[in-house]
Amino acid sequence: TVAPGTIITIDGPSASGKSSVAQRVAAAIGLPYVSSGLLYRGATYQVQRYRVNPEDEAAILATLEAHPIQLLPRPEGNRLLAEGQDITEQLHTREVDAMVSAVSKHKRVRQYVYQRLRELSPPFVVEGRDMGSTVFPDATRKFYLTARPEVRALRRVPERNAEYETVLQEILRRDQADRAQLAPAPDAVLVDTSEMGIDDVVRTILERIPY
Ligand code: DC
Repeated sequence: TVAPGTIITIDGPSASGKSSVAQRVAAAIGLPYVSSGLLYRGATYQVQRYRVNPEDEAAILATLEAHPIQLLPRPEGNRLLAEGQDITEQLHTREVDAMVSAVSKHKRVRQYVYQRLRELSPPFVVEGRDMGSTVFPDATRKFYLTARPEVRALRRVPERNAEYETVLQEILRRDQADRAQLAPAPDAVLVDTSEMGIDDVVRTILERIPY
C-alpha cells in the first residue's frame, strides 16, 4: 500500500507509451490513473464541435464554460464526458491529434485543465507532459519517458491506421508544437524506452516507487 497523499507523475512526448505504462503501474500498486491529455483532447473536441477558432483563447474558454468537460479516472481506461455524454472513443483521431497542440498552448486552457486535475483527490498516478514540472511539483515520484521518434511512430502506426512516414511527420510536428510543455522536472527519473518492452518500463518504474 502507498501513503495517503501519494502522487506519481509520468510525463513524456506523444506515443512514448506513457498512457499504457501509467495504467499498468497504477494497477500494480492499486491506485487510480489519470490521463491529463484526455482533458486537452476533450477541449479540442469541443472546439471542433462548436466550430471555435482554435487561436481564439477567450472563445475557447467561453465554450468550455458553457459546455464543460469532465474526466472520469476509471482503472480500465479513463473516460471523458462532454455535457454528460461519453466522447472518449472520438478523441484518439488524427483530426484531434492535428489540433490539440494549438488548443492546449493557451495559458487559460492550461489553467482550466490544471484546475480539473487538482480537484482530483490523491493517491493517483497521473500522466502527461508537465505533471511533474508544473501541475504537481511536490509529487512523491516523477518519471519522464523518452523514445526515439522513429520508435514512437512505429508504435503508433497500428493505432492510427496510417502510413509510417505520415505518422512520423505528425509526431515530429507535435513534439515541436508541444515543446514548451515538454521539459522534464529536474527531479524526474528519465527512462529511455526505445529499446525496452512495456514490461521492462513498468518494472523500472515500480522498482523506484515506495509501496
Ligand atoms: O498525451 P496525449 O497525446 O493524449 O496528449 C494530447 C495533447 O495534449 C498533446 O499533444 C499536448 C497536450 N497535452 C499537454 O499540453 N499537456 C499535458 N500534460 C498533456 C497533454
